[in-house]
Amino acid sequence: MKTFVAALLLSASFTAHSADSIVSGRDYHSYAEPSAFRVKHLDLDLQASFEEKRLSGVADLTIARIDPLARKLVLDTRDLTIRRIWWMRSATDLVPLRFTIGVRDPMLGAPLAIDLPAEASTPELEVRISYQTRPEASGLQWVAPALTANKTDPFLFTQSQAIHARSWIPLQDSPQVRMTYSATIHVPPGMRAVMSAQSTGDDPGALQPNGIYKFDMPQAIPSYLIALGVGRLEFRTTGPRTGVFAESALVDAAAKEFAETEQMIQASEKLFGPYRWGRYDLLILPPSFPFGGMENPRLSFITPTVIAGDRSLTALIAHELAHSWSGNLVTNATWRDLWLNEGFTVFLQGRIMLAVYGKQREDMEEMLDLTTIRKELATLPPSDQVLAIDLRGRDPDDVFTQVPYIKGALFISWLASRFGDAQIDKFLHDYFDKFAFQSITTEDFRSYLEANLLSQKPDAVKAAEIDEWMTAPGLPKYAVLPHSDAFERVDAARLDWLAGKITAVQLPAKDWTTHEWVHFLDALSGKVPTAKLAELDAAFAVTATGNSEIAFSWLRIAIRNDYQPAYPRLESYLTTIGRRKLIKPLYEELMKTPAGAARARAIYAQARPNYHPIATATLDSIVLKR
Ligand code: BES
Ligand code: ZN
Repeated sequence: MKTFVAALLLSASFTAHSADSIVSGRDYHSYAEPSAFRVKHLDLDLQASFEEKRLSGVADLTIARIDPLARKLVLDTRDLTIRRIWWMRSATDLVPLRFTIGVRDPMLGAPLAIDLPAEASTPELEVRISYQTRPEASGLQWVAPALTANKTDPFLFTQSQAIHARSWIPLQDSPQVRMTYSATIHVPPGMRAVMSAQSTGDDPGALQPNGIYKFDMPQAIPSYLIALGVGRLEFRTTGPRTGVFAESALVDAAAKEFAETEQMIQASEKLFGPYRWGRYDLLILPPSFPFGGMENPRLSFITPTVIAGDRSLTALIAHELAHSWSGNLVTNATWRDLWLNEGFTVFLQGRIMLAVYGKQREDMEEMLDLTTIRKELATLPPSDQVLAIDLRGRDPDDVFTQVPYIKGALFISWLASRFGDAQIDKFLHDYFDKFAFQSITTEDFRSYLEANLLSQKPDAVKAAEIDEWMTAPGLPKYAVLPHSDAFERVDAARLDWLAGKITAVQLPAKDWTTHEWVHFLDALSGKVPTAKLAELDAAFAVTATGNSEIAFSWLRIAIRNDYQPAYPRLESYLTTIGRRKLIKPLYEELMKTPAGAARARAIYAQARPNYHPIATATLDSIVLKR
């Protein structure tokens, strides 16, 4: 205990002294000490109890000893109940170990420090931890039957990124520690467990009558990609290596919506090298899933709000699939380096969408992104407008912005404009090969970029330009911005309508795609007369749209202009959808007026119990602030 306290004090003073300079590659969001030990393999045996909202069982960690003298193994935990810990001298010889759980930090959770005996000085050792989760685990959501598609059974899903794996598994919760894993999951009969791994033995669609599911992930992945879903799930094949898991009420619609996934994989392989993960399936989650998607390897987790019926929101699938290269193969070493995951992925997503759906759609999607980033940059402090954001002392969930995504992608697009598309695609292909199954920093990337791209054509870019992209706030003046002819036509129509030259029914909207609608609505800034909104609503039944993105843009306008007829829809929207991107801005818009704030608080009181912990963490500070 003494040395543990000393180590804590040491690390505290280290942080204080280095307050001004970030140590590249140092993970400020984990207590683990990868320079002493590294977890190599995780074997889970967990039982899911919906009555108790608990996962309970054991985690066996196979650990490589890096420091021959280290006697203390430190793991990350958050709100776990640790029962007992053993050193597994052999499979049958378990030696109980003493351990202490440190003070719980609201952001990081609590370090679990395990005392190892002197004999455990082998280069590799195994530790068994018997534990259970708590109902409030930040990385788990136990969804009640009423909030699922079928409304007959509960649903459990995990969300480990960024630092929530520690709330359901004791481990080194850092993206620079990669491990293989295996798991046995026990679920109630009739329910199915799925993981970011291959199911052993059977075909992916097989239901186990005994409720025992076994998994194996033979490729080393960071902890934030470990994922589990449990529900009354069906499976539909959509291609030779693709399929969807969803509740029966959704599974056919989902299979139809995402039937082009194999085409996306092929487009991606052509550009960036083979898909290395075997199968690529999708899991459709309940609408309370706080994200659009999550790139859990072999099994992306997907919000049901993108099942629009017309495949208009499938860019999300291209995005999660692209992470199979940028993120899952080559991983950010720390959360400061998130743009290496997300910026590259948005760029790859664009290349996939271009190949599968063509230029007109891709142009529109890039334009929508540009509008989003411009609006967000206007609200962010300069220090949060840089690619590698300083996250020391901050929760990655609270600093979630579009900067690493869209500015990151614009940086790669700009490189492509200077070096040529083909050259950039080749550069990325080689980069994924070179760093496959490694975790790297912004600085690692920069030296690779210099050695493998910039030096090839020394006059193509200036060092000062690269510096500006990497370290300056905002977007450089020379950024290459997208353009959409289709949106120009939408803009012209909007102006005519606002000026009274045409009525709503005369808008050329019959053939508008989701993208054109969203652009039409998002540019209706400022005050719009109620009569105009009513006219639009009468012509196109916008309030009743089944498209979650169009509804979002419309509801934001409705709030801004106090358009009463949309309020019932607003309430049902906010009480059924928990995707943070779609609800946070609506609450923010409501909070701008006293009447809106009262409405927000009333709706939130009703909706909050059903939101995911990641969403309530964000929304509490918006809606419940005084
Ligand atoms: N990996 C992210 C989600 C994420 C990032 C969770 C950081 C926690 C911390 C996922 O790939 C993602 O970016 N989802 C977006 C998709 C969109 C950009 C197409 C989302 O959920 O909106
Ligand atoms: Zn992403």
